[in-house]
Amino acid sequence: MANEFIEVRTEGGKVGVVTLNRPKQLNALNNGLMDELGAALKAFDADPAIGCMVVTGSEKAFAAGADIGAMASYGFADVYKNDYITRNWETIRSIRKPVIAAVSGFALGGGCELAMMCDFIIAAENAKFGQPEIKLGIIPGAGGTQRLPRAVGKSKAMDMALTGRMMDATEAERAGLVSRVVPLDKLMEETLAAALMICDYSQIAVMAAKEAVNKSFEGTLADGIMFERRMFHAMFATTDQKEGMDAFVNKRKAQFKHQ
Ligand code: HXC
Repeated sequence: MANEFIEVRTEGGKVGVVTLNRPKQLNALNNGLMDELGAALKAFDADPAIGCMVVTGSEKAFAAGADIGAMASYGFADVYKNDYITRNWETIRSIRKPVIAAVSGFALGGGCELAMMCDFIIAAENAKFGQPEIKLGIIPGAGGTQRLPRAVGKSKAMDMALTGRMMDATEAERAGLVSRVVPLDKLMEETLAAALMICDYSQIAVMAAKEAVNKSFEGTLADGIMFERRMFHAMFATTDQKEGMDAFVNKRKAQFKHQ
């Protein structure tokens, strides 16, 4: 079925790319867009040829937030009964292969939250992040109050959530919200290079690494370390571990089979 709000393509036959495509609304995130995004990511996750995904927007906006026009008339009964946000925004949490956010321009409100739901963020120099919901008489509702402090610490997260100010790419990198900042015209090139690099590693190791890092956000340190140790032990049951280590010992490039 054709998508109305996103564009979907693959790069190198291995990377699934989703481009948010509501340019006139600065990629404001409505229900239809979030349904399409979730379905596209799930399809890529289930495709054995795909090793990594990228979510991106336009030069001007990754996404300027949840669609305020759509939300304006919602009442409590609508959002509660329809499980607003939980119903379709959380799909991305179930994706097991890596998802990189390539952010240029505005990533505000739900746009910032969507970027933070991805596994890491590569930002263009013109990126601007913010949680301006306070200006609308609401609070972040797609994980902003939880993921932002984990990324940048309490003081800066409070500053962002309470004043609604934006942070530029330099500040976002310094604070640990984004993994790297690149020139705007190199954003996709650099992101795809990272994605293709990930695709060439053992998919089992990649998925296990993602799962283990995500575990660090839940529960205790001791539980997280134990989870990591067991996943690490499990790697020794894979063919890829034998291949990776044999390749190193014999000074050749590893050819992973994802087994
Ligand atoms: C609906 C939006 C939108 C949004 C922008 N537009 N953001 N429409 N929802 N979140 C629309 C504008 O209405 C306008 O439409 C067009 O996009 C261009 O926007 P401008 O404001 O003219 O552009 P500019 O002057 O460059 O300002 C850019 C901006 C500003 C600073 C990003 O648009 C802005 O402040 N947007 C709202 C940001 C925000 O509050 N986000 C949080 C939303 S709440 P027209 O038709 O006039 O051309 C949220 C809840 C999260 O995300 C919790 C659950 C997920």
